[in-house]
Amino acid sequence: MRYFEIMDNMFEKFEEYKDIQKGKGIRGKLITIINPEADKLAAVVESIHLASLLHDDVIDEADSRRGVQSINSKYGDFTAVMLGDIVYSKAFYELIDFGKEIAKTVSNAVFLLSQGELEDVKLSKEINLDKQKYMDMIYKKTASLIEASCKAAAISAGFDSDKFALYGKNIGIAFQIIDDLLDITQDEQTLGKPAMHDFYEGKTTLPYIYLFESLNGSDKEKLRSLYKKKLSKEETEWIRDKMKENGIIQKCYAESKKLVEEAKEAIKEYNIAALDVIANKVVEREF
Ligand code: IPE
Ligand code: MG
Ligand code: MG
Ligand code: MG
Repeated sequence: MRYFEIMDNMFEKFEEYKDIQKGKGIRGKLITIINPEADKLAAVVESIHLASLLHDDVIDEADSRRGVQSINSKYGDFTAVMLGDIVYSKAFYELIDFGKEIAKTVSNAVFLLSQGELEDVKLSKEINLDKQKYMDMIYKKTASLIEASCKAAAISAGFDSDKFALYGKNIGIAFQIIDDLLDITQDEQTLGKPAMHDFYEGKTTLPYIYLFESLNGSDKEKLRSLYKKKLSKEETEWIRDKMKENGIIQKCYAESKKLVEEAKEAIKEYNIAALDVIANKVVEREF
C-alpha cells in the first residue's frame, strides 16, 4: 500500500519505528477507496492512529501489538509516549496542507479520541453497567477517527461528506464492539494482542454489560467477583460458556451487523462496492 510507504518515509530516521508492525490499515484503505488520489491523507491518518496505539499500549500496559512486542514493552513507557508524540506532531504538520476543512475534521477526531481514551480509563475504575456510557466512549475512542477518515476523504473527492461521515461512524462503532467481542472469543495468537484482557483491565465492554443483565443472582455475584482478577483457565471458560449460553455473542454480532447495514445504506447512491466489502469485513473479521 502506497500510504504505508509514505508513512515509512515520514519516520524512517527513528530507530524504534522500525520495530512497529503494520496493522490492517483500515483507515487508510477507506480513504484511498473513497479518493484514490488521497494516499498522503491516508498516511497522515494512519500515523495518527499509530500514535494513538503507542499511547494506548502504555495506558493499557499491553505487552504485544499486531503480533509483536509492543514499543512500551520493548523500550519502556517513556519511549512509547515520546514516539507517539513525534508521530502525532509530524502527522499534524502534514495535515495542514490539506486545508482548513480537512485539517479541522481530522484534528477534531484526535480531540475526541483522546477524550474517549480518558473516559475508557475512568470507566475502568469500577464495573460500568451503563450501555450509553460505553457507546459514547467507543464512539469517541474508536469511531471518531474512522468517521473523520471517511468524511475527510469525501471532502477531498467532492462527495456528500455527511453521508460518508455516517458510514464511517457506524462501521467505527461496530469495529469496536467486534474488537471487544474478539477479546472474549479469540486467543492471543489469533489477536496479536492479549486475549481475555478487557475485564481484567476493568473494562465492562458491551458483552459484559449484556451478560450482567442476563445472569441470575448467584452467577451475577460470581461474575462480579472475577472483575479485575487474573483469571484461571476454569474461570475464563466459565465466562465464555455464560456468554454463549445467554446468546451474548450473537446479540453483539446482531447489533454490529445492524450498524454496518445502516452504514452501507448511507452511501448506497455512490455504488462503491469496496466500501461494502470493508463494512462486511468489520463484522466478519477474526482478529
Ligand atoms: C482502542 O482501544 C485504542 C484507540 C482507539 C486509541 P483499545 O485499548 O480497546 O484497543 P486495543 O484492544 O488495545 O487494540
Ligand atoms: Mg488497548
Ligand atoms: Mg485502551
Ligand atoms: Mg480491545
